[in-house]
Amino acid sequence: MKQSNNNVGSTQYQHLSLHSAPDNILWLTLDVANASANVLSPDVINELLRACDDIKQQNPAGLIICSGKRSGFIAGADVKVFVGISDRDTALSFIQLGHTLCNTIENLPMPTLAMVNGFCLGGGLELALACDYIIASDRPACKFGLPEVKLGIHPGFGGSVRSIRRMGILKAMPMMLTGRNLLGRQAAKLGLVDLCVPLRQLENTATQVIKAGYPARTPAKEKTAFKDKLLENPVARKLIANKMRATVSQHAKQAHYPAPYALIDVWEKYGSYDDAMYSAEAESVADLIQTDTAQNLVRVFFLQNRLKALGNKKLFTPKHVHVIGGGVMGGDIAAWCAMQGLRVTIQDMNTDALAKVIQRANTGFKRRYKGDKQRIMQAQDNLLPDLQGHGIAKADVIIEAIFENLEAKQSVFKEVEQRARSNAILATNTSSIQLHDIAQAMQQPERLVGLHFFNPVAKMPLLEIIYTPNITSKEALAYAQSFASHINKLPLPVVSSPGFLVNRILVPYLLEAVSLHQENVPAEIIDKAATDFGMPMGPLELADTVGLDICLHVGEILSETVGVSLPDALAKDVKNGLLGKKSGQGFYTWKKGKAIKNSKINWQGDTQKLEQRLINKLLDEAQKCLDEKLVGDADLLDAGTIFGTGFAPFRGGPMRYLKSQKHSSLS
Ligand code: NAI
Repeated sequence: MKQSNNNVGSTQYQHLSLHSAPDNILWLTLDVANASANVLSPDVINELLRACDDIKQQNPAGLIICSGKRSGFIAGADVKVFVGISDRDTALSFIQLGHTLCNTIENLPMPTLAMVNGFCLGGGLELALACDYIIASDRPACKFGLPEVKLGIHPGFGGSVRSIRRMGILKAMPMMLTGRNLLGRQAAKLGLVDLCVPLRQLENTATQVIKAGYPARTPAKEKTAFKDKLLENPVARKLIANKMRATVSQHAKQAHYPAPYALIDVWEKYGSYDDAMYSAEAESVADLIQTDTAQNLVRVFFLQNRLKALGNKKLFTPKHVHVIGGGVMGGDIAAWCAMQGLRVTIQDMNTDALAKVIQRANTGFKRRYKGDKQRIMQAQDNLLPDLQGHGIAKADVIIEAIFENLEAKQSVFKEVEQRARSNAILATNTSSIQLHDIAQAMQQPERLVGLHFFNPVAKMPLLEIIYTPNITSKEALAYAQSFASHINKLPLPVVSSPGFLVNRILVPYLLEAVSLHQENVPAEIIDKAATDFGMPMGPLELADTVGLDICLHVGEILSETVGVSLPDALAKDVKNGLLGKKSGQGFYTWKKGKAIKNSKINWQGDTQKLEQRLINKLLDEAQKCLDEKLVGDADLLDAGTIFGTGFAPFRGGPMRYLKSQKHSSLS
């Protein structure tokens, strides 16, 4: 940040620089070498510790820690360190190194301040918490969080103690237990940061705070409010801890995700004794890092990065997207792209459909941006109805999302091909028609790709990029992947074949659930078997949510490929108008958008066998897709299944799970 050249002291640093500013304020700029983001590896932590020695010698009037990266402050501890940690001592010594750094910063004799403009996550926030002050910019990219539970651990560099001390237990714990991020303003409101200011005032404010000691510099230990001190007595702690366990159990089972429970245990036992809690925190994380859950979640983190890297954002910069078909999917794709800052024209031959798209999009913008009028207006301005399809000639990306009919789609692309720019991406969102069948009607079939979005578009992170080997051009595929990254979706290239990857894997599993139901196993028992395995939702509730008519349609297309005959009950239900959530009745009765379930069902069958029968269908199909080379390798298949179906992330994906099963049966 600070650009003066007076590097302090004789020490040479690789990852940081120290600069003296007027008023004897020292700036430490962290800029980890050969990395796009700052992460705390042992090397970086050791260098920061050396810098702390130099700072103590220099004894400035104040220290401001900032980042030299455009991307943010510090993204967290280096996750690579966690991979394959097999012994507890290695884990513990890394955590203790982080503790030493944060304690050293906390004990520096001069006022210290973390100036944050961008993400400040995990170990990065723990470092900031060790400073006397945290000042944030109000940019939307400025995010604070302790997302360690998403990696199967919890804060380990003293962050659990310091965040509770700053915010109080009732605000700090939900942030740690959910791993959710806070924007600068929210963080200031909750007391996590001291001030949140516009970017142009950030440096000045940081300097003023250090100089004037405003807000009054209170030793961090004395910051805890009286009310929060009361909550730290053992009786209150027990009550609060039990309440928190109950809340967490609604979202994550302890057997699957032990980390949030471990964090609650540590606080319940040591909450008011800082020193004991620091060491209990470290011991607990050292235990958690080695669990299968943590190792698998760390793997999922790297799989996600791998998918992100498949989309090279530098290839091109899309500005304008034209969507044809303003139904459920086209409308939601258009709204999503508008929220990502792109200009979007949405075409439908039906004006009512266009009106509904705009109405639904506005509701979505308001829900997402909760009162942030500027962002709501920006998204609204980005989305334009286009009855005549004027956008076709101008767009960088054209996405067809009309109803599922081959001739209709062929005729759209015949026209689009004539009117579109020669370098525009031409894409279809078809869910079941083969790409080469649609492309047959085109003069340049190599230009067509599939962009298979999932419903609901705003929630599903994966985007299948469909291609036909030997037909689709390499450029079209690479540009489609780049586009996915630009709109914050994870691209997964998949060979065009019935059901592509995600639906192909899901269908046998869903149909098996329907067959079990036909064999008189109650829906609640079937769904529970799946959620006990770790699926986010049971297959019958999922079928009801998607719509039984859509399940039947996809099942009909895929039954031959997957070698499963369709259970009669499905066609019968659809014929009788029982379509699931949208009709109010399917496998469940639906009221106010929720399935009514009977929690007291007594079923005498073998739940273990039931679970195996269901999950094996999914695993077998995943293996077949890999054998048929629909995706590049087993890791990509795992990534697609996790991000496309929600397959239990803590199991690391179907191929990883199959491998672990083989290992455990051999040992
Ligand atoms: P929908 O039936 O809700 O909407 C289709 C829209 O396209 C209608 O508004 C219709 O007026 C419009 N339309 C039809 N022909 C047109 C033309 N020539 N020019 C302009 N507009 C035209 O369909 P839905 O469910 O949105 O599906 C669209 C596509 O997305 C289909 O290919 C489907 O397979 C695929 N898909 C659907 C998913 C779902 O969950 N519904 C999930 C993933 C893909």
